[in-house]
Amino acid sequence: MLKTKIAVLVSGGGTNLQSLIDAQQSGIIKSGEIALVVSSSETAYALERAKNHGIAYLAVSKKSCGSQAEFENKIQRALTENGIQLVVLAGFMSILSADFVSKWEKRIINVHPSLIPSFCGEGYYGLRVHEAALKYGVKLTGATVHFVNEIPDGGEIILQKSVPVYKNDTPETLQKRVMERAEWKILPRAAELVSRKILKEGISYGLQRK
Ligand code: GAR
Repeated sequence: MLKTKIAVLVSGGGTNLQSLIDAQQSGIIKSGEIALVVSSSETAYALERAKNHGIAYLAVSKKSCGSQAEFENKIQRALTENGIQLVVLAGFMSILSADFVSKWEKRIINVHPSLIPSFCGEGYYGLRVHEAALKYGVKLTGATVHFVNEIPDGGEIILQKSVPVYKNDTPETLQKRVMERAEWKILPRAAELVSRKILKEGISYGLQRK
């Protein structure tokens, strides 16, 4: 069966990448296949996860590239060479330029660990998001999967899931609950939804051209 080719961009532990790999194995993701993992860090454990599952991977460090433009050129080259149709940002800690994302309109999705529009945008990533949620005193938080546009965390929302905040939560306990109950559930579901849409569009485009 024809499948949408997915690249997953990561920077750290890669638990969201793992949720995508597991979802592919269990059949939750059936319209797409993870064809490439790109890490912005050479030491990210996410690379081990790719290796363990026989997925092509590469590390592109911004430092060794010297500039954002070269960093993005290298990523773009890898995506093109691997025939990638959908890019999933799964804990990718680098903001992509407007120039880059405009080439991938509705083809990049991101998972963010809060209910957007709360605790999002530049400076809100990883544990900082949960620190901010606890400081504000919200009783509900969660995760969001959205399309990526030129505004950090500003693209159209695809899926959201809420998670309760408990009195004794630390940023770490809250992060774990948000990952387990929200991120790892909605990211694979969103990847399937968008993969299926890309596949359908590709097929109807092919038919129109005949
Ligand atoms: C996840 O919680 C993800 O939502 C967050 O970083 C973590 C990466 O964990 N991403 C952001 O904050 C992006 N703004 P992982 O490497 O184990 O998937």
